[in-house]
Amino acid sequence: MKRKITGGRLLDLTDGSLTETEILVDEDSGLVVAIGFDLPAADETIELHGEVLLPGFIDLHVHLREPGFEHKETIQSGARAAAAGGFTKIACMPNTNPPLDSAAKVQDVRERAQAAGAAGVFPIACITEGQAGKTLTDYQALKEAGAIALSDDGKGVQDGGLMREAFIRAAEVGLPIAIHAEDESIARDGVFNPGAAAKYGVSVQHGESESAMIARDLLLAEQTGAKLHICHVSVEPAVALIRWAKQRGVRVTAEVTPHHLLLSEDAIERADPVYKVNPPLRSEADRLACLEGFLDGTLDVIATDHAPHSAEEKAKPLSAAPFGIVGIETVFPLLYTYLVETGHISLRDLVLRMSTRPAEAFGLTGGSIRVGGPADITAVDLDTERTIDPEKFYSKGRNTPFAGWQAKGFSQLTLFEGKVIYKNEEVR
Ligand code: DOR
Ligand code: ZN
Repeated sequence: MKRKITGGRLLDLTDGSLTETEILVDEDSGLVVAIGFDLPAADETIELHGEVLLPGFIDLHVHLREPGFEHKETIQSGARAAAAGGFTKIACMPNTNPPLDSAAKVQDVRERAQAAGAAGVFPIACITEGQAGKTLTDYQALKEAGAIALSDDGKGVQDGGLMREAFIRAAEVGLPIAIHAEDESIARDGVFNPGAAAKYGVSVQHGESESAMIARDLLLAEQTGAKLHICHVSVEPAVALIRWAKQRGVRVTAEVTPHHLLLSEDAIERADPVYKVNPPLRSEADRLACLEGFLDGTLDVIATDHAPHSAEEKAKPLSAAPFGIVGIETVFPLLYTYLVETGHISLRDLVLRMSTRPAEAFGLTGGSIRVGGPADITAVDLDTERTIDPEKFYSKGRNTPFAGWQAKGFSQLTLFEGKVIYKNEEVR
């Protein structure tokens, strides 16, 4: 089954140029067969109208909630939402119920993802059993079952000695450790950054809970030679520490979320848990430091931390509602509109940070459109402006502070392994 895409403009990831071309993909092999004009005949032709052809986006940090919290999201609903957002590969966090701390549980997620078939789903397994921070899991077995990284996301590993051991074992089996950096003795049960906490009368989560933990783990990674990936960086000292560690040759990559790049605590307009996320929205100075760190490459990749919760859960009072913001269906349009169109970053560089660099960080295929490479492709419309409407999401989660924002760059077509998953605003 061969499929031809015509009428699109291909982004060249070396020089950023856009060139009208055609792409032939093969659904059986899942690969790109040819690029150019005068291509061989296809079984089906998809006609585009000037949309820009990009490698499918890759998100290293999503929460799919299955097993255990299927009312928030399932592997299928999350993978379909990913396709609608232009994503073809997603790495899912293990804070499910039960948590993904054994080979069998990792294998189970992979099988369910295979059945859903809407995107490549790559499980991240627990650093510690039950995410309890007490006993390390079996990294070799988790790797063999298909885990691509280790994380206790949602929680930091409080015991530094245990974390040192985790880095040693992870380095032995060659898995990166992705940290949710949070020192609980500093974070307590803090809800917001100091400014917003005072304004809305809730407890403070101080930024040092993040930066202190990042400092510890950078030092441990340096000494053990392990590969460290730092999740959702939100504060200025964290950016400075990562920059310093990279200069010293520490094997570290870092991610930043769209909400920490576009919103500070000043954007919190009312006592609404839609703004409650962990790490919290920080000061404007922190936001600008994250943006600077993203632009200079200190923060390597965009990850959404797509964290769906039900409307009922998010309707609770600020102190009781869960942390989390959904992002997978809005991240590219938001960053295209508010970072590319405003001149902060080029389209090419944004795509590198949403596809190529994430693939490199976790050793995944993809991240470019080339003959012989995976036919994981999205076509985005850079001209039509739309209003973000959570009611239209494929995710079960509607918890976004970006509802009502105007943006361009929505995906019109997403192919995963040569199959059409998303087209004309419909997931197949
Ligand atoms: O806001 C967050 N939500 N931060 C996390 O670290 C976990 C996530 C979740 O699982 O809902
Ligand atoms: Zn986290």
